[in-house]
This record gives sequence, structure tokens and C-alpha cells, in this order.
Amino acid sequence: MNTNIACIRLGNIHVVPVTCPKLACEFLRKHDSVFAFRPITVASQSISRGFLTVGFQPWVDEQWKKMRKLMVSEIISSKRLRWLHDKRIEEADNLVRYVYNQCSNNIGGGAVLDARVLGWQYCGNVVRRFLFNKRYFGKGRADGGPGVEEEEHIDAVFTALSFLFAFCISDYLPWLRWLDLDGHQRMVKEALEVFNKYHDPVIDERLQELRDGKDGWHDLKREPQDLLDVFILLKDDKGKPLLSTEEIRAQAVELFLAAVDNPANTLEWTLAEMINQPEILQKAIEEIDRVVGKERLVQESDFHKLNYVKACARESFRLHPLSAFNLPHVSNYDTTIAGYLIPKGSYVLLSRIGLGRNPKVWDEPFKFKPERHLKDGSDVDLVEPELRFISFSTGKRGCVGTGLGSAMTIMLLARLLQGFSWEVPPGESSINLAESTHSLFLAQPLRALAKPRLPSHVYPAN
Ligand code: HEM
Repeated sequence: MNTNIACIRLGNIHVVPVTCPKLACEFLRKHDSVFAFRPITVASQSISRGFLTVGFQPWVDEQWKKMRKLMVSEIISSKRLRWLHDKRIEEADNLVRYVYNQCSNNIGGGAVLDARVLGWQYCGNVVRRFLFNKRYFGKGRADGGPGVEEEEHIDAVFTALSFLFAFCISDYLPWLRWLDLDGHQRMVKEALEVFNKYHDPVIDERLQELRDGKDGWHDLKREPQDLLDVFILLKDDKGKPLLSTEEIRAQAVELFLAAVDNPANTLEWTLAEMINQPEILQKAIEEIDRVVGKERLVQESDFHKLNYVKACARESFRLHPLSAFNLPHVSNYDTTIAGYLIPKGSYVLLSRIGLGRNPKVWDEPFKFKPERHLKDGSDVDLVEPELRFISFSTGKRGCVGTGLGSAMTIMLLARLLQGFSWEVPPGESSINLAESTHSLFLAQPLRALAKPRLPSHVYPAN
């Protein structure tokens, strides 16, 4: 509609999409307390087991404060991220080893691989390793690839994500809920059954061991091994367990939903754009070779010098966000923003594509041009507090995982660029950059020809 802000009425609800950074900052920076609520949806209610988690909690209430505080101070604080560093590196190594194995299995030393699956695999492994201290729910695979259990698990993550705040008729007309007209409730239930199947045995066994076992949680003999231990061992001021079993189960699912999708989507689009513009690919590789060399793999301590690689990831967040809109925010009072009355209960949707591709903000908005993020020679990072595009958003409900999310995104991209050359598959002339008709993913998952580009001794051994 060529407007910065609109108001659309769906059922009894005013839905307010926004495409202008100045207005977006009015909502999420100046008035963020007013717009810190989230909608109640059938899907978010069942995924969060009745709103026990931080991200899908509709209210800024005691439950949200408790969960947000423990996420920030205990689960993804900088201290905790340092503690989890080796687990992240093990999974980055596993990714490189897996791709290398695929290439070595083929005559010619190259393999056509699905970059979407690589991204999902790495991100899923990192979160599984953090939470449950394991990569595989089942027997796993000797070459480092995902087993059937992990594939089913990641499918469930994306099913749950696709329905979380999707348009569902009964969220706007709640008296239709019992009919489940669009089938959302059934599909979310199926995804939750998959989470229960894989998470519950691990959680139950650990609870038995730590809380109810003979050692008892209060005089535990060993140090926590992973985030599940941390969740279980957290205590309130009276020395009692801080989290119920239901809260642990719900927050474990939310961690997967929060951490897997964005880094994987950014990898896929960045690589696709780079293959079609080889000069960008070349610049990124030259930077990695200059900063890291070819005798060791990229480490997190190199990130501050990989500004061009980070600019490429940033450009993907701008041009190819994961979803059309930011997570929805709901207003708690009638408020006036830029002269418009926004009634209490309105859903405010910052448009990720409306902001990131806004021609009044971005020169040649549809062109993938990482250089636009390098302007003053200062360090590049992936956050965008001015909301000229949405990466981690900002304000009271802004992402709590910026450090971890950035580290995962940069590592995934940098390791794959350093370890392998990437080209269009044999017989094809370019990557088709068309978007899917029902999401912002590439219409076809990116398949590209990978070939090792480092001396063989640098690749992690099997
Ligand atoms: C590249 C990776 C990531 C991106 C781009 C990203 C982006 C976002 C965005 C856009 C939001 C919504 C903010 C809003 O409502 O305005 C959000 C919320 C959130 N993110 Fe992330 N995120 C990433 C990784 C993570 C990770 C790794 C975690 C945790 C381990 C995490 C935890 C959360 C939580 C808990 C919320 C909800 C906060 C609340 O409602 O109070 N995110 N994220």
C-alpha cells in the first residue's frame, strides 16, 4: 500500500504493520513498555505449555520476568557462553568434518550438498549439545551427519515455528477454536509429540538422577554438565528448585525454536548470493585467508577481524530475513504514535521486508551489497538497534540471545567458506534466487558443489 504504517482490522483486532525505522523505534524503543505484550495464539499457548516460557509469554508478568532473568543471567550470560565454548567448537568441527567426508567419498573430491540441511544440522547439534550434552538422540552416524531422529526433530522445530504466530482464523475468532478449521492445532500437537518423544526421556532421567536420586540435588557431587543440569539445579531464595518440570520441558523446546532458524537461513541465502556474485565470495575468502590463514580453522577469537564476512551475514538479515514480520507485539494501553491512535490490544507487526527493503532507507534495496555495512571502517556486528532492518530487534522483548546467535551465524558461514570452495552444481549456470511462494526461504533449497580448499591435515579427524 506504499505507506509507512497501516491499520487492518481482523475480527476484533487492529493489526498495525510498520515499514519505517523511525516509527519502528517509536514503538520498540520510546514506547517499548506499552508494546511489550504478545498475542495469545492457540499455537504459542500449546508450544509454551500454557505460557511458561519467556518468548511466547503474552504478558509482562512475574512468569516472564522470572524466565527472562534466568535466561539472561544463567543460560546465555557471557560467563555461560564461555563455559559452553568447547561444545560450540566441537560442533563447528563436526560440520567441517562431515562436509569433508562427503567430498572425500566422491571421485574428483567434490560433493553437491544441500546448504539448508547443513545449517539445520549445525544449529540443531549446537543446541542439543548445550542442553543435553549430546549430538544424537539415537545411534547417530559415523560420518557426523544427522540420524533419522535428528531429522525428525528439526522438522518438528520448523513445523512449530511455522504455526507459532501464523494467521489462524480462531486466534481472531476464538469461538471457532474447537473446530480447528485450518488444522493448526493438530499439526502443532504432532510437532510437540516429537519433542516429547526425544526430550522427555532425557529430562526425566536427569531429574531422577539430580533431584530425586540418592545424592539429591542439594548435595550434588558433580559439576553441571550442560544447560539441562543448570535448569534443574537452579534454586529460589528458599533453596527450593526454581523451575518446575513443565517449565524445564517448555523452555527446552523454546531454545530450539529460538536458535536454529535464523543462522541457518542466513547461511543459505548468503552462500546463494555469493555463488551468483563470485567477486563477493572471493573477497570473503581473501579476508579469512588473511586473518586466519590456511593452517588452522576459524575460531571465535577471529570474529572481530572478519568484518567483510559479518557484513555479508548482515546483508542477508536485511535482504533475506527469515520471516516477513518480527514477532508480534501487543499494546497494553491506548497510545498515540506519530499522530496515530493505536488502540489497546493492537497487534504491531514490524515488517522485516518492509524495513530491510525500504527504498527510502536503502540504496538499491534489492541488491545484495555487503559493502553498504562497511562505511566508516569500524567493527561490523549483526545487531541493528536503529531498526533499519530486523536482526535481533530491540527493547524490552528484544532477543536475549544476540551473543550466541551472532556466534553461531558467523561460525557457520566462516567455517564453510574457509573449508570449501562453493560453485553451482555441474550442468547449472547460476543459483535460482526465487523466494518460495509461501515463505521467504529460497524456493528450492540451495544445492551447491563443495570442494576442500585447505591442506588435508587441517580438517578435523574422524
Ligand atoms: C541469529 C540468531 C537469532 C536471531 C536473528 C534472533 C532474533 C530474534 C528476534 C527478532 C526476536 C523478537 C524480538 C521482538 O519481539 O522484538 C527474538 C526474541 C527472542 N530470542 Fe532471539 N534470535 C536469535 C538467536 C537466539 C538465541 C540463540 C536465543 C537463545 C538461546 C534466542 C532467544 C530469544 C528469546 C528468549 C526471545 C524472546 C524474548 C522475549 O520475548 O522477552 N534468540 N530473537
